[in-house]
Amino acid sequence: VSPIQAIQDMRGLRVVVSAGPTREYLDPVRFISNPSSGKMGFAVAQEARDRGAQVTLVTGPVNLADPAGVRVVRIESALQLRDEVVGAAEWADIVVMTAAVADYRAAELATEKQAKVAGDVTVHLTPNPDILAELGRNKGERVLVGFAMETHAGVERAAGKAQRKNADFILLNYPTREGTAFGGDDNEVTLVRADGSHEDWPRMSKREVARKLLDAALQVKQKAAP
Ligand code: CTP
Ligand code: CA
Repeated sequence: VSPIQAIQDMRGLRVVVSAGPTREYLDPVRFISNPSSGKMGFAVAQEARDRGAQVTLVTGPVNLADPAGVRVVRIESALQLRDEVVGAAEWADIVVMTAAVADYRAAELATEKQAKVAGDVTVHLTPNPDILAELGRNKGERVLVGFAMETHAGVERAAGKAQRKNADFILLNYPTREGTAFGGDDNEVTLVRADGSHEDWPRMSKREVARKLLDAALQVKQKAAP
C-alpha cells in the first residue's frame, strides 16, 4: 500500500473496464486472437479503484493477477465480453473499452478438432458485434472511452470511430513505438474526439495514461452535469 493515499475523487462512481484480447475458437484447440497484454485496462481498473470507484474489470486471457478490490470477470470470446460489459454497463458512470476485440469469429464452431487436409483451407468468418457502438447507441449519462491502434491516418480514423460509436473520446496509439502499446509498460497516446480535436500526450507509464484518461472522463462528466 502506498503511503500516499490517492485523492478519492471517484468515490460513489461505478467504472467498467474491458481489457486484453478475445479468443475466437475455430475448433476446441484452435483460436484467432491478438497479442494484447491487458496492461492498459488493468492500469485503468487499479487507478479507478485507488480513487474510490467501484470497478468491474472484464478481461480476456492475460498473464495478470486479479487486482485486489476490483470485481474481475474473465471471459474468452467477444460474445462473452459483450454480455458481461453490456450487463455491467447498465449501472456504470464510466465505461472504458481497452479490450482488443477480435472483429470476426468462426461462422460455425467445429465441436471436434479439425484434422489437416491436403492443400488450402477456407475459414468462414462472421463479424462480431461492436460493443462500444452498442453502448453508444444507448449512451444515457455514461462517459464512453475507446482505444484505437492505427498504422496510418490515426487522428482521422480515430475521430471517425469516436463519431460512429458515439464515444466521448478515443485514445489513439501506434503499434510501431518501441516499449508502448502491445505488451509494453509505457504508452504514447493521442486523445481524439469525434469533432477531430485532439491532444498529444507525451510517452508515460500506462498507469499515468490511466490517471489522465480518468481525469478527462471526469471532465466530460462535469460538463454534462446540470
Ligand atoms: N470495439 C468494440 N467491439 C468490437 C470492436 C472494437 O467494442 N467488436 C472497441 C474497442 O474496444 C476499442 C474501439 O472499439 O475501444 C476501437 O476498436 P478498433 O478495433 O480500432 O475499431 P473497429 O471499429 O473494429 O475498426 P477497425 O476496422 O480499424 O478494426
Ligand atoms: Ca477492430
